Amino acid sequence: MIPDHVVEEVRARADIVGIIGQFVQLKKAGKDFSGLSPFKKEKTPSFFVIPSKAFFHDFSSGESGDVFSFLMKHQGMSFTDAVKFVGARSGVEVREVRRGRRGDDPRRPYYEASAHASSFFQERLWEWEGGKGAREYLERRGISRETGERFGLGYAPDEWGALRDAASARGIGEGILLELGLLKKSEKGDQPYDAFRSRVIFPIESVSGRVLAFGGRLLGPEGKGAPKYLNSPESPIFHKGEVLYGLSWAGNPIRRQGAALLVEGFMDALSLAAVGVANAVAPLGTALTEAHARLLARYTRQVRILFDSDPAGLRATFRAADTLLAQGLHASVVTLPEGEDPDSVARDGGAEAVLGFVRQAVDVLDRKIAILEEHDYFASIEKTRSALDRLLPTLRAVRDPRLRDIYLSRIAERTGVRAETLEAELGRAATGPRPARVATPPRARVRPSPRFQGLGSDRQLVHFVLKRRDWIERAGERVGPSDLEDGAFRAIFEWLIDNPELAVPPEGAMPEAVQRFEELSRNREVPPDEVFEDVARGIDVRTIDRRLEALDLQMRGAAEEAEKRRLLKDKEDLNKEKRALGPDWRRSTHRAAKSSQRKGESAS
Ligand code: UTP
Ligand code: MN
Repeated sequence: MIPDHVVEEVRARADIVGIIGQFVQLKKAGKDFSGLSPFKKEKTPSFFVIPSKAFFHDFSSGESGDVFSFLMKHQGMSFTDAVKFVGARSGVEVREVRRGRRGDDPRRPYYEASAHASSFFQERLWEWEGGKGAREYLERRGISRETGERFGLGYAPDEWGALRDAASARGIGEGILLELGLLKKSEKGDQPYDAFRSRVIFPIESVSGRVLAFGGRLLGPEGKGAPKYLNSPESPIFHKGEVLYGLSWAGNPIRRQGAALLVEGFMDALSLAAVGVANAVAPLGTALTEAHARLLARYTRQVRILFDSDPAGLRATFRAADTLLAQGLHASVVTLPEGEDPDSVARDGGAEAVLGFVRQAVDVLDRKIAILEEHDYFASIEKTRSALDRLLPTLRAVRDPRLRDIYLSRIAERTGVRAETLEAELGRAATGPRPARVATPPRARVRPSPRFQGLGSDRQLVHFVLKRRDWIERAGERVGPSDLEDGAFRAIFEWLIDNPELAVPPEGAMPEAVQRFEELSRNREVPPDEVFEDVARGIDVRTIDRRLEALDLQMRGAAEEAEKRRLLKDKEDLNKEKRALGPDWRRSTHRAAKSSQRKGESAS
């Protein structure tokens, strides 16, 4: 049993909004928070959390109570477990008084060792003579002592055994420190040594403020073999795909402001907080994961992304946005001037400057459209087609049905492609982790030429970019992934666009794609520049032929003359574009397409 005074202390310290918010999506409603009932299905929120009274009330089911009764009712916890659960998130040590052994959390030694390491690093930064260089470094970067202390910054000295010896003096086992990645085993089998050396230390905390891991930044410029930032590895208490830096202090501000800022790095989140922009969080040197997005969704639906505005930053932005959209969040993009990051903007112009840019955030789909417009993507039918390829992944990702409708009509409006056609296209161009062509797409029935012919172009293109990584950027501009008909080649093409340096297929990739990737990688041939244009043109022609077939089908179904005329005009335009691709292509597959198309139809 847990002593009453402990229960009371836990109750008093608990952040009831934060805890219930882990299970129910809460929105600020005046001083209180509301959400959909977690106990009964409903469309309008009738569930309220009243922080001033440390109480919740659910009008639709009639349930009400304190944070413990919520967990008991919603999670089926026992009272004791509920108190422990809340205690762990409120910084109160909860122990059952029982004779004999106590039911210890097996992770406790890891938390204790991390907490100890964190205070060791802090002491080295502020109290130690040798920490002067680090203190000056922070000062140069505009981080005051007050800010540094508030966010628990520290310094790992330029020594091989400083933490090791300090920890051992406190009786903390080397095994635990090794598992936490704070110590490393040396090759020669001597004593393990400190993993973080000569770095400013950023403690990475759980939502409830427990230290889970560390990030460390080199004081100087990047050295050989020493990366600028070093993060703790995965450990029993740290899974980097599930933790966002800054959330321990940004959680409540995010709820209050109704939006989160997503930045790239430690310094960005820290500098923003230092100037009073408190709702910024950063992933830890990884792409944003699904778990990250779900974590954010407990706090808000609005995420504004403030990554670098260079091409790599934009790619990361759109990828993060798709991940957010897929978890039902809304994503918008903040554009910073070239060469700036949130840290530099905050340091030079303070909160004012940052918020000035944040106010100009643009919805992610609109941002994509604007970029495509800047590159003249809507100037011709063919370019519009590849513009579509860039917009469809975003549309495909959206989970929120209302947002999906808005996106559909925005894309239809901008490209002139009807919403129904877009829907059909979505089904056809399914990519990513889904197996290629699960359902036979309607056009497969009228697929004209033998499959291997198309596969030839897909294979040639992927072989080209695989061997000529310097061409990937251009290739991605010229050919859209959904122009590739083979799911496996399309997947490889997308991997490479995402990561031009990719050496091995991503985890969980479809086996067919992995196999092709390996097979092509073994091929020694390095194609010369000229090959690219030929291959790309072959794919263009094939894409145009597909469009022509689709138009033929539509023509047959069209009842009205006006509709027929419009379709005919589209056909003429396409034929013109096809001719413009070069004389060699005049005898292409369209004629063959028609005859096999008839065969295909009579056979079915
Ligand atoms: P950046 O290279 O953009 O650095 O890395 P930054 O945030 O501007 O940092 P400063 O201003 O140079 O100090 C962004 C993030 O990428 C991860 C880190 O999480 C970093 O915060 N990163 C970067 C690494 O994990 N390792 C590296 O070597 C570099
Ligand atoms: Mn920076």
